[in-house]
Amino acid sequence: MKFFLDTANIDQIKEANDFGVIDGVTTNPSLMAKEGVQGEQAFKDHYVEICNIVDGDISAEVVATDFEGMIKEGVELAGLHPNIVVKVPCIREGIKAIKHLSAQNIRTNCTLIFSPGQALLAAKAGATYVSPFLGRLDDISTDSIFLVQQIVDIYKEYNYPTQVIAASIRHTMHIVQCLEVGAHVATCPLDAILGLLKHPLTDIGLEKFLEDHRKLNA
Ligand code: E4P
Repeated sequence: MKFFLDTANIDQIKEANDFGVIDGVTTNPSLMAKEGVQGEQAFKDHYVEICNIVDGDISAEVVATDFEGMIKEGVELAGLHPNIVVKVPCIREGIKAIKHLSAQNIRTNCTLIFSPGQALLAAKAGATYVSPFLGRLDDISTDSIFLVQQIVDIYKEYNYPTQVIAASIRHTMHIVQCLEVGAHVATCPLDAILGLLKHPLTDIGLEKFLEDHRKLNA
């Protein structure tokens, strides 16, 4: 399973990239706003900066909601760097836009996926990725991991090449659950990834090794 970092924060992207296990980055308009990125040129510069840090797929989201606008933005975003994947919302115009962009060999990530039917439409339109949102489903008492499993199974059954990015990950256990159901990618905050490292027996064991070493080498 690949790890994408789910942030537009340059320091965190650098830190995660240095850690060495990051395969890409996902952003969205809210994450860009959180970093104070304002204006068309600043958005483009920010995406290019991320592409220059991480050698992997970088999702950049369109903000138009009409077909023509999404195509225009999608073509512009894809032209910024070969690693850009155009993120498009799962609405009627978005599905049309994904079909059009994929016919031009522009890679897409269909976002705001909350049902297997939406994932099916995105795959039929040729989306490179779909992003089911786990945390937001859990927030309304819905089994988000079951949705990831359904989409993975449907794509396998019908041989769709679309890959599943488990998004809206809130904690480390989400990552483990995504692994168990075969998600292709999990896009996560850095803290959730670092949580995978934690085990008290590792800390206790290391402390004992170092103590024994110190005793004989003091
Ligand atoms: C990433 O592709 C999504 O936009 C992101 O994971 C959404 O996360 P949130 O539900 O925590 O805002």
